[in-house]
Amino acid sequence: MDGGTGRYGDAGGAAGYGGHGGGDGTGGHGGGAAGHGGDGGMGGHGGDGASEHGAGGGAGGHGGTGGRGAGGYAAGDGGAGRRGSDGAGRHGGDGGTGRRGSDGAGGRGAGGGAGEYGGDGERVARRDAAVRAAVERGLLGPAAPVVGLLDVAGIRESAASLRAAFDAVLAPGTPVLHAFAVKATPLVPVLRLLDAEGIGAEVASPGELALARAAGVPPARTVLDSPAKTPAELREALVLGIAVNADNPQELERIDALMRSAPSRSPLGIRVNPQLGGGSIESTSTATATSKFGVALRDEGAREWVVRAYLDRPWLTRLHAHTGSQGIPLPLMARGAAETYALAEEINARAGRRQIDTLDIGGGLPVNFASDATTPTYARYARLLREAVPGLFDGRYGLVTEFGRSLLAKHGTVVARVEYAKSAGGRRVAVTHAGVQVATRTVYVPAAWPLRIVAYDAKGRPKSGTEVVQDVAGPACFAGDLLAEARALPRLDQGDYAAALDTGAYYFAHHYAYNSLARPGIYGFAPDGAGGTAFATVREPQTLDEIVAEAGGAHASALTTLSTPENR
Ligand SMILES: Cc1ncc(COP(=O)(O)O)c(C=O)c1O
Repeated sequence: MDGGTGRYGDAGGAAGYGGHGGGDGTGGHGGGAAGHGGDGGMGGHGGDGASEHGAGGGAGGHGGTGGRGAGGYAAGDGGAGRRGSDGAGRHGGDGGTGRRGSDGAGGRGAGGGAGEYGGDGERVARRDAAVRAAVERGLLGPAAPVVGLLDVAGIRESAASLRAAFDAVLAPGTPVLHAFAVKATPLVPVLRLLDAEGIGAEVASPGELALARAAGVPPARTVLDSPAKTPAELREALVLGIAVNADNPQELERIDALMRSAPSRSPLGIRVNPQLGGGSIESTSTATATSKFGVALRDEGAREWVVRAYLDRPWLTRLHAHTGSQGIPLPLMARGAAETYALAEEINARAGRRQIDTLDIGGGLPVNFASDATTPTYARYARLLREAVPGLFDGRYGLVTEFGRSLLAKHGTVVARVEYAKSAGGRRVAVTHAGVQVATRTVYVPAAWPLRIVAYDAKGRPKSGTEVVQDVAGPACFAGDLLAEARALPRLDQGDYAAALDTGAYYFAHHYAYNSLARPGIYGFAPDGAGGTAFATVREPQTLDEIVAEAGGAHASALTTLSTPENR
């Protein structure tokens, strides 16, 4: 169906998933807090987004002609419309023609939004400028053949659109905490930037908590969620006043003991697994029947155990579920929230009071890795949630979210120099410095985690010209170390650069130390106001001395001098 005249473009929401899309926001709500026009639907093709709206500045302006991709994700949200997300800065549409090729081999420049108003199109322009500037300034070159680049303006925009999306659907005055899943991009300057943008931290290990604290994220805006918390970690969290979601009955017993010894102001809850099934990627599906996370709600006696756990502990005031990450269809995520809400209502009814005052719905908004379009959007998900679980938004419950990938992925690019360009068995192979150490998931499970690659020349300018089918290989010593296999790209030559896009979350910040390859430097970039690009160091490149030290360099003789019966 062509883009319709739905109020919020929501015809493209739940109903449109994988089926008929469109439902574009030509009649979008201009006056709302967020002032978004409707987002295009998923699958099918959205409308033309032609009409304009007043107050919030949200012109429909979505659509694009997304096809029905495998997961139906990529289409929709696009086009040349204006989207006044906060009435101030106007964002462009969320890109144009979404495409989710099953091999993820989307080419450069699909999407791109409306040049006039920026958004995804501006992000592409900023990225190109940053690659060029990084080469010109020597941040990237023969001596530094791989770097990670982070788009600071893009991160700020995503944070703002997350806040606006939920503000637009929540009753005014509802307490809300958006806690960034630190695992997605565990970098202190990123956490501080997000904190400045009103986003807290969801941490899942002592290391992540240390990063959040180093960034200055206040305990009151921090949530601890890991499945294997030690007594010491729990104690620290409770002393600091950090929110904790207990994963299982044994953990709750530990919290009981701590609460008996010293009451805490930490908001406390239980994580449940609604066991709704998985998505397209098994390893990121957390709500399967046998998932290791949370209390499996449908197991015999489990629901009643959870209810009793709350009735016996007046200090349990939160309830948490995270239905999964990349690959989970939005309607399944919404069902996860609906199940959590229904359980909270049941507990509160049994308690005869509003004991549970806050629901934590986790993160998991999927990212479109097939084009530059930001889709699905937070606005679309928030509206879908409000339709599916209206009671969650009427002001009776505070809300916590834990998005990771969707906040950062599209704002990171790993760029690597082509050290050699060769050919084998008739296939061209560009041997670069980015492989398994910066794109571990892609290298080991390429079908689930395909990345787009963009070719730049030796000066950092986008390469065009006839496309050649080629492999983009990494530096590690195994044959599968490929960023992309048999990908059609402008021919990569020695000294050129290959950029792996959408790598701001779960990629270059997650170094994998195979072959003792050094962690690359990471630099944030932003327009400098004078037509150029300014850089800030987020993480220094790892030195060889550091690699040696981390590999036991200080203990070089530890084994040869170990006293054993033979050498005594
Ligand atoms: C409990 C919890 N919350 C949030 C997230 C973040 O998910 P995503 O990065 O997909 O938004 C995860 C990811 O594993 C998680 O386990």
